Amino acid sequence: MARILGGITTSHIPAVGNAIANELQDDPYWKPFFAGYPKVHDWLADTKPDIVINIYNDHGLGFFLDKMPTFAIGAAHEYRNEDEGWGIPQLDPFPGAPEMSWHIIEGMVEDEFDITSCQELAVDHGFVVPMQLFWPGAPHHPDMPRAIPISANTVQHPIPTLNRALNFGKSLRRAVESFPEDLKVVVLGTGGLSHQLDGERAGFINKEFDRYCMDKIVHDPEALTKISRHELVRQAGAQGTEFLMWMMMRGALGDDVTEVTRNYHIPISNTGAGTMLLECGG
Ligand code: DHB
Ligand code: FE
Repeated sequence: MARILGGITTSHIPAVGNAIANELQDDPYWKPFFAGYPKVHDWLADTKPDIVINIYNDHGLGFFLDKMPTFAIGAAHEYRNEDEGWGIPQLDPFPGAPEMSWHIIEGMVEDEFDITSCQELAVDHGFVVPMQLFWPGAPHHPDMPRAIPISANTVQHPIPTLNRALNFGKSLRRAVESFPEDLKVVVLGTGGLSHQLDGERAGFINKEFDRYCMDKIVHDPEALTKISRHELVRQAGAQGTEFLMWMMMRGALGDDVTEVTRNYHIPISNTGAGTMLLECGG
């Protein structure tokens, strides 16, 4: 049976892609941000997952406002990265795991989640920047797992509630655990934390709220389901809705988790940048 080993979160700021391309990891601006990753690298080197389920939010590359799936799951043999105009290098395609993708889609639709299945899906910075952070050189890192992208709508309202996001993760866990092959799975929740890129509050970051979310998500994610979508936008900024991805990831980990590492640094570009590694098992 497939097994979820743990979950990892990170912000997915495009400027990070540029910092990686220009090898700025030790630059004083970037150093406190990149300091959050070596412990994650050690854990991945020890555990060597076969599959990475990358829960991210597409920003207009794979889907656009004209057609916006609430929840989409990739079922392709590979996922291409394309130029979004951020000036960051395009990465080579990421190999997929379509057998497990279809198993998850079938299980979750049976579980009454409405899923858009994607046999072709271009992946944006929300997907590739976290991959580069966790597997430097991605997709050419020697331990690069095969990927299953899951995108949720955080841009075109109405977006899912935090409760729906957590329940999505719980259903995802059931689907993964019923996959008959003995595969080790890691789940990423990317995006966030607080940020607002445009409008009157452009540049808004809420350190207290970010810290609260990072604390609660470990052992009491249910408390976060009480936050309404309006309150989330108010507290975390218009793009802080990307915290939905973290909740989807958390739901997939089950009740007992151990926090292995966390890092929080502000600002990186316009964003409160948070990184966490939660291992399954108490
Ligand atoms: C930034 C953050 C994001 O989540 C994003 O998708 C684009 C830009 C930023 O802080 O610059
Ligand atoms: Fe984003």
